[in-house]
Amino acid sequence: MSLSWWRRAVFYQIYPRSFADSNGDGIGDLDGITAHLDYLNDGTDRSLGIDAIWLSPINPSPLKDWGYDVSDYRGVHPDLGDLAAFDRLIKQAHRRGIRIILDLVPNHTSDQHQWFRESRSSRSNPKRDWYIWKPGAPDKPPNNWVSIFGGPAWKYDPATGEWYLHLFFESQPDLNYRNPEVIAAMHDVIRFWLDRGADGYRIDVIHGLIKDAQFRDNPTLTTPNPGAMTDVALSQEHRYDSDQPEVHEVIRGFRRVAEEYGGDRVMVGEVWPRDNRSLADYLRADELQLAFNFRFLFCRWRAASFRTQVAAVEELFPRGSWPTYTLSNHDFARHITRYAEGRMTEARARLSAVMLLTLRGTPFLYYGEEIGMTNVEIPKTQWRDPVGRDGCRTPMQWSGAAFGGFTSGATAPWLDCGDFARVNVATQRDDAASMVSFYRRMIRLRRENPVLEEGDLKIEESAEDTFVFHRVLGGSRAIVALNFSAEPRTITVPRTKILFSSDPARSLGDFADTVVLSPLEALVMLAV
Ligand code: NOJ
Repeated sequence: MSLSWWRRAVFYQIYPRSFADSNGDGIGDLDGITAHLDYLNDGTDRSLGIDAIWLSPINPSPLKDWGYDVSDYRGVHPDLGDLAAFDRLIKQAHRRGIRIILDLVPNHTSDQHQWFRESRSSRSNPKRDWYIWKPGAPDKPPNNWVSIFGGPAWKYDPATGEWYLHLFFESQPDLNYRNPEVIAAMHDVIRFWLDRGADGYRIDVIHGLIKDAQFRDNPTLTTPNPGAMTDVALSQEHRYDSDQPEVHEVIRGFRRVAEEYGGDRVMVGEVWPRDNRSLADYLRADELQLAFNFRFLFCRWRAASFRTQVAAVEELFPRGSWPTYTLSNHDFARHITRYAEGRMTEARARLSAVMLLTLRGTPFLYYGEEIGMTNVEIPKTQWRDPVGRDGCRTPMQWSGAAFGGFTSGATAPWLDCGDFARVNVATQRDDAASMVSFYRRMIRLRRENPVLEEGDLKIEESAEDTFVFHRVLGGSRAIVALNFSAEPRTITVPRTKILFSSDPARSLGDFADTVVLSPLEALVMLAV
């Protein structure tokens, strides 16, 4: 079977404001990314070897939600560059065989978007119905829905005496996807960037595009629903404000637009279904090709915890359909920090990388994880994000120079840097024992062994604190053994050749049927 590129690819998420600043204003930009493409993939073993980049939003925005509040879907935020810079980035990326997907934020716009300015200007404005307006007394929101970021999901607008819906900040009014004009406008936005060469989209909050036609109250929860972004979102079952059956028709429409480009453009949904089991419903043949799977973001450092999640994913995505895996992104504390445990921290991060890159599914890396960048403690008084997600969005640490080599100028970066003196690309690049060399080798191993990309996955019974799985493709079988404990663990395997280990003391070669894993060792073997 020949896999589509997006099944084979290792994706790398870039938070554009924080990757590389080319013009010295303290803010990362598109030209900065272009200048570092060789680091990501220059076609040789010296580079990381990723295949595709997901760029968090690049559009003009008042930055109330750092770009997830778009005020113009067809432009580039002036902090990041312009359309010409985007074209340069695409050209240079494609020249290196790197694909680029953009963040499409269709659920809501900024309140500064022209569409909303018109919509809120009067009840009879032709764009009034592009957003979700409801009548009601100024002291009584239309229903009990809460915003994911806290407080009611409705804002009263005294100018026209009605409420509008915002599932996120009040500066992010929700679009009305029951209005065909909105759908047509978003289709044109999708075409705009695909025409410019984008390879697809990561689609924000796609489960939320359609709301209950009757706007019924959500049930209040007594047992919290894990996995919501903030506590307030935990207080309700989001039965009526998201994950509605009609959303699938909207997604099919998006997919039809992507298919106008010949079937090679990908759509990856940010899907938070009410019930994790309905994630697969978004991946029907005429809907999304991929959807994020956030289960690992909530796993404790236990073999059983990851094993249980992988088993559930395998059940949900049988052969033929395709999962994804993610350990970190711009909304959650970096995993190296979530799993930090003194001197074991780095070994845990290496084990996590082996797991992410050997499971059956498309892996999404988050910029900086390949060098072991940690979450940065940003005091509340200095938060730039109203809900405090700054710690995972700090500048990429390129070197030990001022501001970690992130900026070409003397202006301090928009967010404080982490510990760049200790963790940076320059010191790791030529060090075979470094984290970045480890990621590089692991990505190459995956590329050189189709069984790791394509093979079926089978979980093995194994010793306590270990997670062992097989990947099988035709006659070849890879075995991945992960020891989550700080003690040695013995496992039984078929006769194998060791391909890769996170323990530098491990010698590669043939083994009989017993292997003693060293503490926190991640081992990749090939059955012989
Ligand atoms: C999910 C994004 O990942 C997050 O950063 C954003 O705040 C919300 N969607 C709203 O767009």
